[in-house]
Amino acid sequence: MTIRNAFYAQSGGVTAVINASACGVIETARQHRDRMGSVYAGRNGIIGALTEDLIDTGQEFDQAVADLRHTPAGAFGSCRYKLKGFEESKAQYERLIEVFKAHDIGYFFYNGGGDSADTCLKVSQLAEKMGYPLCAIHIPKTVDNDLPITDNCPGFGSVAKYIAVSTREASFDVASMSATSTKIFVIEVMGRHAGWIAAAGGLAADEKRDIPLIILFPEITFDQERFLAAVDEKVKRYGYCSIVVSEGVKGTDGKFLADAGIKDAFGHTQLGGAAPVVAALVKNALGYRYHWAVADYLQRAARHIASKTDVEQAYALGKAAVELALEGRNAVMPTIVRASDSPYQWRIGHANLSEVANVEKKMPREFISSDGFGITDACRAYLQPLIEGEDYPPYKDGLPDYVVLKNASVPRKLTSQFAI
Ligand code: F6P
Repeated sequence: MTIRNAFYAQSGGVTAVINASACGVIETARQHRDRMGSVYAGRNGIIGALTEDLIDTGQEFDQAVADLRHTPAGAFGSCRYKLKGFEESKAQYERLIEVFKAHDIGYFFYNGGGDSADTCLKVSQLAEKMGYPLCAIHIPKTVDNDLPITDNCPGFGSVAKYIAVSTREASFDVASMSATSTKIFVIEVMGRHAGWIAAAGGLAADEKRDIPLIILFPEITFDQERFLAAVDEKVKRYGYCSIVVSEGVKGTDGKFLADAGIKDAFGHTQLGGAAPVVAALVKNALGYRYHWAVADYLQRAARHIASKTDVEQAYALGKAAVELALEGRNAVMPTIVRASDSPYQWRIGHANLSEVANVEKKMPREFISSDGFGITDACRAYLQPLIEGEDYPPYKDGLPDYVVLKNASVPRKLTSQFAI
């Protein structure tokens, strides 16, 4: 078997465990040096491939690679950069193949969400069209948990844990203050179109802790009157209420409550600001004192309280990606297959990228309570195992000891430049 090099890139919004997938890719490739050569990473994702700005992961010590497993965010840089259809951006796809050819890349590992699955598929199709042998494997990642086929997505379990923990802790706080001060706490969570992260807030309450919670899902159109009535009922009964609002909630006019008025390269609206909108509504209509928080990057960067399940799955998917590539698979994505809820059992499967690209998995209606403001037992059974287990990073001087890589450049081979 000829030994060919691999290209790995991180794409889209990063997570607390995307580097654990990178660790799985690099460590597994190192175990198969007789079959897979160097692993080059794209500096800032696919942009690094287009501009021939490659990072030689071979320059990193084994320990530094191992430390990626407990380091959040994207160690090589990520990007939101859209490669459009072949006709519109043929030159970009051709440039990718030109760079791959120059560096003898035979394996393309693309670690991202739905948009990246589509890009990965397109790259594999173009390579085939151009007669360039390439195994293109998509490694799932998204805190939004909205990829189809895979039971869940790496990154989600840790965000879910952060939101469940924060909602429980802040609810204890507001409960303490509610007699004379704050009665409402609002936390805004990510999840552009799908309410998986918001649902995780529901785990804050359990049979031992009857926390009054209202969850606002993107899947349920926001009805101001019903919402205010539900909040008032909780405050009258419990003295306080915690509200988890997804950034993706839309009103009856179809507009996001939290539209910041900016769009990214994929045309996605930049979101953020639903919490103050909701808090002000409550204050104006019911007069209750409030505090609000936008969890924002804190939630997806919180490696210090990552879910052990999530870390293990992220690593396993990176490892599986290399194994699939070495089996000669192309245009596939390794997936998590749930074998049972309790005890929680899972294994790795795989799906064709044509079935993954551009499909968004939203919360099924049976996971949302009939009043639209909470989660059902079925949802709890789905979420619970995903936040299970602690995997604390090592600490030094009171802080997590995250690795900073050398990120040495691979010498360029092409004379041509490419403007992005
Ligand atoms: O990748 C998904 C996500 O975390 C969304 O939940 C969020 O809306 C978005 O990324 C934020 O993206 P960015 O960091 O590019 O603003």
